[in-house]
Amino acid sequence: MRILTGIQPSGKLHWGNYFGAMKPIIDLQDKGETFVFVAQYHALTTVHDAAALRQSTLDVALDFLACGLDPAKACLFRQADVPELHELTWLLSVVTPMGLLERCHSYKDKLARGLAASHGLFAYPVLMAADILAYQSDLVPVGRDQKQHVEVTRDIAAKFNQAFGVDVFRMPEPLISETVAVIPGLDGQKMSKSYHNTIGLFEAPKEVKAKIMRIATDSTPLEEPKDPEACRVFALYKLFANAQEQEEMRQNYLRGGYGYGHAKKALFEIYQRTLAPFRERREHLASHLDEVEDILRAGGQKARAEARKTLEKARAAVGLD
Ligand code: ADP
Ligand code: TRP
Repeated sequence: MRILTGIQPSGKLHWGNYFGAMKPIIDLQDKGETFVFVAQYHALTTVHDAAALRQSTLDVALDFLACGLDPAKACLFRQADVPELHELTWLLSVVTPMGLLERCHSYKDKLARGLAASHGLFAYPVLMAADILAYQSDLVPVGRDQKQHVEVTRDIAAKFNQAFGVDVFRMPEPLISETVAVIPGLDGQKMSKSYHNTIGLFEAPKEVKAKIMRIATDSTPLEEPKDPEACRVFALYKLFANAQEQEEMRQNYLRGGYGYGHAKKALFEIYQRTLAPFRERREHLASHLDEVEDILRAGGQKARAEARKTLEKARAAVGLD
């Protein structure tokens, strides 16, 4: 089984990215052939600052390795190390109906947020389809907001196979963990860098603590029972906690005599405990950047060889061999 996901280097990664996209694929790396890449070309639809793109590209790679992606098991690479992607994108573009792209929520959302309607932003799902199809991926772990893009990928693959009477592409499935489908941000909306409501995965502990302390809660007095399911602090705590810890926290809420301040402190502590080994590994990697470059380069070569195989089949199918 092939498992693939990409993350855009368009800013610091946050808890939503970690639980929605990174952790699911890291947990799956023993279950199949795993490909993880830094989606630089996608980020270029919104990031027009070369130094920032370079820095974020490195940060995403460091974050994945620090959080436990094992380069001995998974192929970690930069999207831009696979130029074959663009030719495949074109071969897919010619069979992609305009209406399919016009229906994409993500494009409409971006325009609604004030981004300029560029061709790149509009064609973004075709590039994403090429990413997924180039490596013959079976499973694509993503957050719920990306599900439609995987469905579009399936439509495009089917159109291509049908138009040319071939069976070049494997049909991918999105993998969305329902328990963590949408991680709430500090304000209760989806956590997203566009909403300025994120907690960074590797943000300084002092900042994280301050953000947690600012999460709005209701005014139930300390001694009274509280509804855990209506509390944002509990929703975030659950992400880090095991089943027993979740149950203990739920009882704390229901019993009363347990304040939101206590819950916030517990959330900060469990975050710190989870992050401690990740921080240590990240510091080590950040002072051995040559090792990181070797990992990315080797990953790029492996990914490129795979993409080339698919591209050759697609070229032959359309008559470009
Ligand atoms: P952002 O919304 O901050 O711009 P991206 O769109 O770059 O984040 O998302 C990168 C990956 O992280 C995607 O797979 C996306 O589905 C996942 N993701 C982002 N935010 C969340 C969230 N709040 N809950 C679950 N998954 C998320
Ligand atoms: N569009 C995805 C996002 O914004 C990133 C991405 C690009 C991706 N190519 C992909 C995710 C292929 C999964 C598979 O998060």
